[in-house]
Amino acid sequence: MRLVLYTGKGGVGKTTTAAATAIRAAEAGRRTLVVSADSAHSLGDVLEQRIGPERVEVAPNLEAIEVDVRVEVIRHWGHVQQFLVELFRYQGIDAIVAEELALLPGAEEVVTLLAVEEFALSGVYDFIVVDCAPTDATLRLVTLPDIAERTLSVLLPLFETISSVAVPLARKIVSLPLPGSEVFRDADELLNRQLRALQQRLTNPQTSVRIVLTPERMVIDEARRAWTELSLFEVSCDAVVMNRILPDEASDEPFFEEWWRLQEERKREVEEFFAPLPVLFSPLQDDEATGLERLSRQGACLFGEHEPDAVLSVAPRVRFEREGDGYRASVPMPGASLDRLDVAKIDDELTITTGVRRRVLKLPRSIALLDLLGARLDGPSLIVSFGSADGA
Ligand SMILES: Nc1ncnc2c1ncn2[C@@H]1O[C@H](COP(=O)(O)OP(=O)(O)O)[C@@H](O)[C@H]1O
Ligand SMILES: [Mg+2]
Repeated sequence: MRLVLYTGKGGVGKTTTAAATAIRAAEAGRRTLVVSADSAHSLGDVLEQRIGPERVEVAPNLEAIEVDVRVEVIRHWGHVQQFLVELFRYQGIDAIVAEELALLPGAEEVVTLLAVEEFALSGVYDFIVVDCAPTDATLRLVTLPDIAERTLSVLLPLFETISSVAVPLARKIVSLPLPGSEVFRDADELLNRQLRALQQRLTNPQTSVRIVLTPERMVIDEARRAWTELSLFEVSCDAVVMNRILPDEASDEPFFEEWWRLQEERKREVEEFFAPLPVLFSPLQDDEATGLERLSRQGACLFGEHEPDAVLSVAPRVRFEREGDGYRASVPMPGASLDRLDVAKIDDELTITTGVRRRVLKLPRSIALLDLLGARLDGPSLIVSFGSADGA
């Protein structure tokens, strides 16, 4: 089962591209599902059909769904959420606010992925295309299983220990809501089964993120950061989609000439920066690209010779290798800059921070005993060296 997630800044054409990709694949006979994971659902508008929280067939071989995050949160993590609502309300927080708060940051992203994982496991589809919320939410989505697992695996045993001792006693003397066994069951299920499954799905070679951008400065800069951060988490990007490209005829039109020249520059810049990822170009349409027919044409221009569901590029992964008397870790971080990077080793963990994103890597035993000697950027990789600091 092939999974492709489209991300990018708001308004660049994610929904349009996701729909066009799904339509082309369905036309080629792949059993396809297109999932809207952006709570500002616009997939229905783009497909010009009514779509809701249940899957509907929109064309032969093609189904579509808009994930309802609230429903999914309750389904997957209902007891935990209920408990949190009770807890917040007990603290005097208004019911509606309590419900909002109990949708923990990131919970939306996790349940969206859980829904996708269920479709993936159903065996009904060859290809699932996800139209994600704008970049930051996507990055939370793909990096969260890693982070949530770490947080929960520390919190849960602690929580359990405290409550096994304190709950029976506390129930007698305070009215504070206390977590029942079903809360632990939900949290445990989420931690031990679901988050691990998501982690595996996201780093599976059949899963790719495609970054959509337009030839504008801010859009390109955001896309570059996204690629660096996705790579750090070993989530593979297999292509960049450059949307709203003026046709070559525009180079002869006085009004468009300058615009076209700037666009050519940015095309080159994007191709250079994102190499070796293929950059697929999607033409600017004279009208909005909606409806099955127009989307199919848009998809044909975009993919040309490529299959829409092909793995268009394979991303490198974290590697540990011998280096002199010690070892080195090679971490894919294309486009990273040293001034935004922080690298630290604590016991058997290597922590790499870039901006607001942090990856914690468990080190093999042989390296855990060594010291961190230094870190440098070498092309698309961060190289971290380990050895004995005293040279012994
Ligand atoms: N290549 C294109 N040519 C013309 N209009 C486009 C093109 N791609 C997207 N649009 C229009 O731009 C708007 C935003 O596109 P959309 O796919 O909804 O972006 P996103 O999902 O990234 O927010 C929509 O009105 C869409 O029809
Ligand atoms: Mg959209």
